[in-house]
Amino acid sequence: MSHKGDLSNFRKSYEKGLISDDFKNFNPFFIFENWFEEAKQDKSILEPNAMTLSTVSLDFSPKSRIVLLKKFSSIGFTFFTNYDSNKGKSISNNNNVCLNFYWPSLEKQIIIKGNASKISENESEDYFKSRPFGSKIGAIASNQSEVIENREFLEKKFREANNLYNKINPQRPENWGGYLVKPLLFEFWQGRKNRLHDRLEFIYEGNIWNANRLSP
Ligand SMILES: Cc1cc2nc3c(=O)[nH]c(=O)nc-3n(C[C@H](O)[C@H](O)[C@H](O)COP(=O)(O)O)c2cc1C
Repeated sequence: MSHKGDLSNFRKSYEKGLISDDFKNFNPFFIFENWFEEAKQDKSILEPNAMTLSTVSLDFSPKSRIVLLKKFSSIGFTFFTNYDSNKGKSISNNNNVCLNFYWPSLEKQIIIKGNASKISENESEDYFKSRPFGSKIGAIASNQSEVIENREFLEKKFREANNLYNKINPQRPENWGGYLVKPLLFEFWQGRKNRLHDRLEFIYEGNIWNANRLSP
């Protein structure tokens, strides 16, 4: 392989922030909210709500992909997807999941481990109704993660759904909806100088959040 694949000289000094020891006294949801707000304000972050979702499949192998965070509260984190997709099948077998946010311009990473469960049909319905027409038709036309013959197959399904629903309201497919991830662990990472990064972990134990500083 050419030298282009050698990234050993890619180095960056992290100096944008810090996590002081008194953060241990905060609620992790509060820290998340603050950091998320910072990410929202940063014009260089185009999709602050894009997060990596990792699941474990039936054969115990992990898979990660990006999904969009659509809601968060002190209960948990909600994203929407197709329940019959690869991730949906994995979650129905093993609801341990991991979320990861990385905002390079802030030198911040947040890792959230937790359990995913389907939200109520009413909540999924409400969110589906709020989506643009084209996204609704897209969700109807796509059996997410299914192997398809070619691009035209998808376009045809889209046209058919589009024709069917151009006068009536597109209905939410039964297998499309939200998952709520209830956290059991948060890890906040702030890049620091000389690789002495700040890491603060919160673990949910017996109804309280216990905080530990971790070595970088
Ligand atoms: C920026 C971005 C946002 C995405 N948002 C979602 C989303 O909110 N829900 C979703 O199901 N897939 C979303 N995807 C597509 C997923 O990454 C993935 O391709 C899809 O969900 C199928 O994954 P699976 O086969 O592992 O289930 C997004 C991809 C990108 C790059």
